[in-house]
Amino acid sequence: MKNIILIGFMGCGKTSVGKKLSETLDMEFLDTDELIEEKQGRTISSIFETDGEAAFRVMETVCLKELLKRDGKPFVLSVGGGLPIREENRKLLSQIGHVVYLKVSPEIVYMRLRNDRTRPLLQGVNPRGRIMDLMSARKNFYEGAADSIIEVDNKEFQEIIEEIKEKCE
Ligand code: S3P
Repeated sequence: MKNIILIGFMGCGKTSVGKKLSETLDMEFLDTDELIEEKQGRTISSIFETDGEAAFRVMETVCLKELLKRDGKPFVLSVGGGLPIREENRKLLSQIGHVVYLKVSPEIVYMRLRNDRTRPLLQGVNPRGRIMDLMSARKNFYEGAADSIIEVDNKEFQEIIEEIKEKCE
């Protein structure tokens, strides 16, 4: 089994699906946001506030390069929603493993994240408009990075996990 990477917009379920999938397959679960927070000793919000988004994007690339060098057992990796924007990151993703895009609609993201305070890109703006804009700007990057695409709207966890397993066999 290759490493499995979950990409997709904020709130599509990468982390929760990834954790469950890793348990089902008895694989380690990793998350780029968590790895960056651990390394930096601060939260994503604080990184955005102090260093800005561009610096965070560099940290994401460094994180992927480190994961590429990692050897050992295959893992399930969830990556930040904006990570596939950079071409360099998309190339690194394809070298690391099988990339699964969890495709979600803007309405569902809005319902899930309208009260969220941990996503700096959705603070201080009309979240509905920002979600629509970011999603349409990113659509092609997600599709371009994906080996498989799974629609997640109105699906139970287990159904999504079964679909991922099928695509990664
Ligand atoms: C971001 C998504 C977040 C996190 C950061 C930026 C984005 O991760 O990396 O807030 O640009 O979409 P999640 O997709 O896990 O929320």
